[in-house]
Amino acid sequence: MADNAKVKIAPSILSADFAKLGDEVRAIDRAGCDYVHIDVMDGHFVPNLTLGPPVIRCIRPHTEKPLDVHLMINPAQPHIEQYARAGADIITVHAEADQHLDRSIQLIRSVGKKAGVSLNPHTPETVVEYVLDEVDLILVMTVNPGFGGQSFISSQLEKIARLRKMIGNRPIDLEVDGGVNSETAGDIVAAGANVLVAGSAIFKGNDYTAAIRALKNAVN
Ligand code: DX5
Ligand code: ZN
Repeated sequence: MADNAKVKIAPSILSADFAKLGDEVRAIDRAGCDYVHIDVMDGHFVPNLTLGPPVIRCIRPHTEKPLDVHLMINPAQPHIEQYARAGADIITVHAEADQHLDRSIQLIRSVGKKAGVSLNPHTPETVVEYVLDEVDLILVMTVNPGFGGQSFISSQLEKIARLRKMIGNRPIDLEVDGGVNSETAGDIVAAGANVLVAGSAIFKGNDYTAAIRALKNAVN
């Protein structure tokens, strides 16, 4: 099980005001976020379209926190270098995208970035079994990706617990994305996650510091 004091909060800027993204990123930085979670959607792998490398390049100077870039795009491989150059620190691809997950991971590492793999709700945890020694982060989707503000799919708690066992002592972040709020965070961390992505739970009000604190308190 993860050490609760070390749980990291990764606000998803999908729920921020895109007309003032620089201000929003500075605000979550000041509010004490650990990572800045950036949802990249292509309107093909998921039924929504968001942003790409030029926007990430504009965000980069507004924070020194790690940019945690979640690619919901297919294919992802041809674009990985571009995301690295734009300023991503962690690049996460979906296990369901592309043909060769191992190659995507190698590519991310070859450009000097941390490599993440994300699993949709229907995807079993066994898909990462043979890449565990190559990844820095595993992202469990607890909603079907595409939109903020959806309800947490509780069947994923078992997957989180199984992944925590598979990870063992490896220094891999186990991140959870979708429907994370003060009600669900406790169970998620108890199952073994150590990074919580939260969009609507953080951006719905004006006090981002209080929202981040509320999530941290919910797991302590
Ligand atoms: C969903 C995205 C999430 C989303 C989470 O496709 O990957 O990061 O923004 O939003 P909430 O926290 O509102 O469920
Ligand atoms: Zn995400």
